[in-house]
Amino acid sequence: MGIASVIEPLKEAAATYWVVISAITVSVYALFRCIYNLYFHPLAKYPGPKIAAVSNSWYAYQWITGRYPIVIAETLKQYGDVVRIGPNILVFITPKAAADTYIPSVKGLEYFPKADFISLGWPDQGITWETDPVRHHQKAKWLLPAFSAKSLKEKEWVMHKYTDIFVKSMKELGGQDKGIELKQWADWLAMDIAADLGYSREMHQLEEMRPSPYLASIWAANFFVTMHTNAKKFPLLSWMQYFSVPPSVIGSYVKAIGANRAAFMKRVEARGKTLRPDHFDKLLPAGSPMPSKADLQSLETVCLHLLLAGYEPISSSFLCIVAYSLQHEESYTRLVSEIRGAFENYEDITVEGVVQLKFLHATVMEQLRVAVVGATGQPRVSPGATVDGHYIPKGVEIQYANYAFTRDPRYFHDAYSFRPQRWLPQDHPYYDPVYAKDARDDFHPWSQGVRSCPGMVLSLQETKLIVAKVLWSFDVEMLPGQHVEYERDFRMYGMLEKPDLWDMGKWEN
Ligand code: HEM
Repeated sequence: MGIASVIEPLKEAAATYWVVISAITVSVYALFRCIYNLYFHPLAKYPGPKIAAVSNSWYAYQWITGRYPIVIAETLKQYGDVVRIGPNILVFITPKAAADTYIPSVKGLEYFPKADFISLGWPDQGITWETDPVRHHQKAKWLLPAFSAKSLKEKEWVMHKYTDIFVKSMKELGGQDKGIELKQWADWLAMDIAADLGYSREMHQLEEMRPSPYLASIWAANFFVTMHTNAKKFPLLSWMQYFSVPPSVIGSYVKAIGANRAAFMKRVEARGKTLRPDHFDKLLPAGSPMPSKADLQSLETVCLHLLLAGYEPISSSFLCIVAYSLQHEESYTRLVSEIRGAFENYEDITVEGVVQLKFLHATVMEQLRVAVVGATGQPRVSPGATVDGHYIPKGVEIQYANYAFTRDPRYFHDAYSFRPQRWLPQDHPYYDPVYAKDARDDFHPWSQGVRSCPGMVLSLQETKLIVAKVLWSFDVEMLPGQHVEYERDFRMYGMLEKPDLWDMGKWEN
């Protein structure tokens, strides 16, 4: 009998022993963790699904379905106004909770810092992903002048330029029986504007009638972004996120990021030599020396955020305003007659003119309420402070359920219906007192406080200008057999996925 025949069984026994010991240790640890999370954790007193109290898997699963905001609304309805949706996560619905979370700041620094949510782990977190209040404050100071009334006025022509290309294209293509697919056109229009406004980048998507590689790749990677966000809550399993993105998408995404970098560097080189204003002018004014590597990384991410944040909500707004208005004939007729009554000629349509239109404003607000764009929960980390009467320990993640708020009958009468008139002032002919008690003042689609959207005024101007120019020019019809409903047709991943059945037709001049 050789020595190997004695050692091998011993080795096997030892391996089995360690597997069993490890399994028991992990199980005992998991059991104690469950007991701790359920009964002794500082959030143990808050109601919610039991599985959510013991593991982040409930939270992650809701995200993966794309129905996160809707499930959160159902959960709040079942459990009350504050619900525990993860071992260390609470979600609130009351307007007081939103104000307590987003408004407090100390010397311009947010009091409840942004949680690490979408951030893709780049060297710099740009503006939207920045979790450090001090660094955010610095970047916001660079950026805010780009959104002043004067600066926006100087850049208004950019919005006209692309909207006019869109209208011209519709004159050529829109009258055909097969119609046009509006969702992609809305994307091309809004991204062409955002890129040019942001850093004088001409993407030519409208003219070429096709998405840029970057636009195509961000939508192809949209689900991956959700997986990436959720993977942060499961560090040991985070490698699994990479199975959610096809290798071909990774290749085209990397190429598109390369093209973004080239466009960004071109703009850096052109500092002080550009003939027309853009947001970038304020980030790197004429005469600035070549920034350091770290500053370049920071500026590049900020530019990318200006492109993304400045494009997607506008595209969604335009698409949804057309869709929802067409589904409610009375709203569509009122909107079109207000626009056509206000401007005799197409050339008369300006930002100054469109911002006066009350029914148009009401329509934009109602679209933002019905097709909630940023229904991510906007997570923040508690510094150890009180939210709507609840002391929330330091380190707990807090979310605000802005979609649930819009559908709650305590806040909006007839909450699931598209009713622009709920936003009209009392002296307007279409004012309807049935909506008098709606919580209009508590609706903040651009959020509140120092991390609120710097593009609020720009987005109102831009959406109104596009809608006014398009509906002034055309009688729009939806091809038969289509009906859009947020609850049924939209999916919330990294960005809001809209239904792709948008074959719209019969554009008549
Ligand atoms: C209807 C249109 C828009 C809506 C509803 C909207 C909404 C929002 C919301 C809710 C936030 C805060 C997100 C959070 O706290 O996690 C935000 C941030 C931001 N938005 Fe918008 N936005 C819109 C259009 C725009 C436009 C046109 C721009 C122009 C570039 C823009 C630029 C930004 C930026 C840079 C941030 C990050 C601000 C910061 O972190 O300090 N947005 N937006």
